Amino acid sequence: MPKPILLLTRKLPDAIEARAARDYDARLNSSDDPWSRDGAEIARRAAECGAAGILCAAGDPMGAATIEALPPSVKIIATFSVGTDHLSIPAAAARGITVANTPGVLSFATAECAFTLMLMAARRAGEGERLVRARAWTGWAPTQLMGVTLEGKKLGIAGYGRIGQELAAMARGMRMEIHYHNRNRVAPELEQGAIFHADAKDFLGAIDVLSMHIPGGEATRKWLNAERLSWMKPGSIVVNTGRGGTVDDAALVTALSSGHIRAAGLDVYDGEPAIHEGYFALENIALLPHLGSATEETRNAMGHRALDNLDAVLLRGTVAPDALP
Ligand code: DGY
Repeated sequence: MPKPILLLTRKLPDAIEARAARDYDARLNSSDDPWSRDGAEIARRAAECGAAGILCAAGDPMGAATIEALPPSVKIIATFSVGTDHLSIPAAAARGITVANTPGVLSFATAECAFTLMLMAARRAGEGERLVRARAWTGWAPTQLMGVTLEGKKLGIAGYGRIGQELAAMARGMRMEIHYHNRNRVAPELEQGAIFHADAKDFLGAIDVLSMHIPGGEATRKWLNAERLSWMKPGSIVVNTGRGGTVDDAALVTALSSGHIRAAGLDVYDGEPAIHEGYFALENIALLPHLGSATEETRNAMGHRALDNLDAVLLRGTVAPDALP
């Protein structure tokens, strides 16, 4: 029997491409060519090769228009991401196409990235690095680049899912007090003493550092807006490793410029790879290029998880383990 045809929209780690090529008639994207940014082109290539499965990634435009244009051969879209805001699940359901993501395997890596940004923001690491690289550092000085410690500070986690819970575990090691805001209060064994705030104003007013782990999409668009920023204590820190659209960039730039927000760290951006111009003029922000899950271990685990989902549907005719409802 011929192997099912699998269209990969992005270049993936070697081991993942090797497994895909072993088990499928795999159409690889060897150069990470930006055709994957064009939904019509994804649909055109899927039709051209008669793809049974598509392995796509965060940022690929897999909205309703792309999904409606896919050929009837497509049975499953497996995304190399936990986030699904780039995908229209209802459009896929209407076509009987399974959609699956890669939950769980990137929680620790993304929490590590959030922790990195928290430290960079609190300890002014970006500013220090830029100073040294500019060959402008003139030597140690008692009042140079003083930041603040995280020790004993109140960390507020917005969105207390797997990533937020991993971050809480790391922050306990820094003797931080954990607060969280979530749709629902979680069970005591997951809470581990973290303080739940049902009310956003109460939550934002209680914390020193905010780490955002809210899913993207219209419902959460610009969640952190000027009003919510004003509820935070003067001198607070903001970090976002979730989705860029959950932050109102203009409002954050204003709050950082005035010093109401001491410092920020971002790994994700509204409309990325475009980045709000206001951020570039600010010293008190650390900017990373969406590398939350970018460890060798995690990217391999994500790839294997995506292939496990594809295998279930295309090789075994069963339900994908991470099929989304
Ligand atoms: C995800 O998985 O949603 C990330 O943003 C990509 O690492």
